[in-house]
Amino acid sequence: MSSKKYKACISGVHGYVPDYVLTNSELEKLVDTTDEWIVTRTGIKERRILKGELQGTSVLGVRCLEGLLEKTNTNPKDIDLIIVATVTPDMFFPSTANLIADKVGASKAYGFDISAACSGFLFALTTGCQFIESGTHKKVVVIGADKMSSIIDYDERKNCVLFGDGGGSVLLERSNDDTGIQDYILRSDGSGSDMLCLRGGGSLRPASIETIKNKDHYIYQEGSSVFKFAVTNMADISEEIMKKNNLSSDDVSYLVPHQANKRIIDATAKRMGVGPEKVLLNIEKYGNTTAGTIPLCLWDFEKKFKKGDNLILAAFGGGFTWGSLYLKWSYNN
Ligand code: ACO
Repeated sequence: MSSKKYKACISGVHGYVPDYVLTNSELEKLVDTTDEWIVTRTGIKERRILKGELQGTSVLGVRCLEGLLEKTNTNPKDIDLIIVATVTPDMFFPSTANLIADKVGASKAYGFDISAACSGFLFALTTGCQFIESGTHKKVVVIGADKMSSIIDYDERKNCVLFGDGGGSVLLERSNDDTGIQDYILRSDGSGSDMLCLRGGGSLRPASIETIKNKDHYIYQEGSSVFKFAVTNMADISEEIMKKNNLSSDDVSYLVPHQANKRIIDATAKRMGVGPEKVLLNIEKYGNTTAGTIPLCLWDFEKKFKKGDNLILAAFGGGFTWGSLYLKWSYNN
């Protein structure tokens, strides 16, 4: 017997990116790279960076949540739960969700963080969805945000060109009709953990002079191996959710993909049989903001969506983790 009493829907979305724009030409001055290499291999032209002392991921989360509350006319005291997907929390504890709740005055909400790298927003969204579907909560906020510049080595060309800072948030509420989150598939495989990780600072390798010398506090990625897994798994899982829900490519209004590499997105769209006009892309402006990409994409393209549009959200990330989610958009703008 299903424990689902209600359908959960996204009733608002808002994003935030910092003002500072780090362009490819600026990166050409820092490392041995070219604008041409970056654009042809990834599709990225620029990314945003959160500058200043003591500015953590919570700053991104607070800014996008404040905008969301204003836009949806929501009193912060009415929020029941805040879930933050991030791999760059302000601190290991307390959770970034807790810090954000305090700053926006969500005094009745509890919060926690979810770590699933680039799939983090999908993992957090499906988690939040359960609390709405079961009827225990009425307003759940899901935030995906990362300050990737805090774990990037800007002396090394491989990763610094890929990532940026930013985040987005959605409000989840009970749907009044059949629109909302219809289905999802989530997967993880720890055997890929060594290929994309942050080695230092955890209980395995606590911070030490040694970990600093080894650059263990910067992201480690075997790019071309991860690329193969990303292409296969993101395409497979997007096709799988379409088949599971009897959706043809004509039924899909938009693909909202994680923005890590345009070539991975193109391969996913090809497998789904959807044309470029249905693929939402903003990678050229923001790069890979990890948990931030999907809500930032929803925010950037919100005006395009009409009530009842079928959206497929898809991601692949460190862990490995990957997933797809099918939702019917719930409002007109
Ligand atoms: N500028 C110029 N040359 C570069 C750069 C750069 N920034 N980076 C690497 N190169 C060179 C390499 O050294 C290599 O040179 P060589 O042939 O002389 O050895 C050459 O370019 C090719 O390198 P590859 O790594 O094979 O390049 P590839 O085409 O695979 O592109 C990339 C690299 C963009 C990282 C790609 O592999 C990729 O997108 N991987 C997947 C990323 C991803 O999806 N991650 C998951 C999400 S992230 C998360 O979860 C936090």
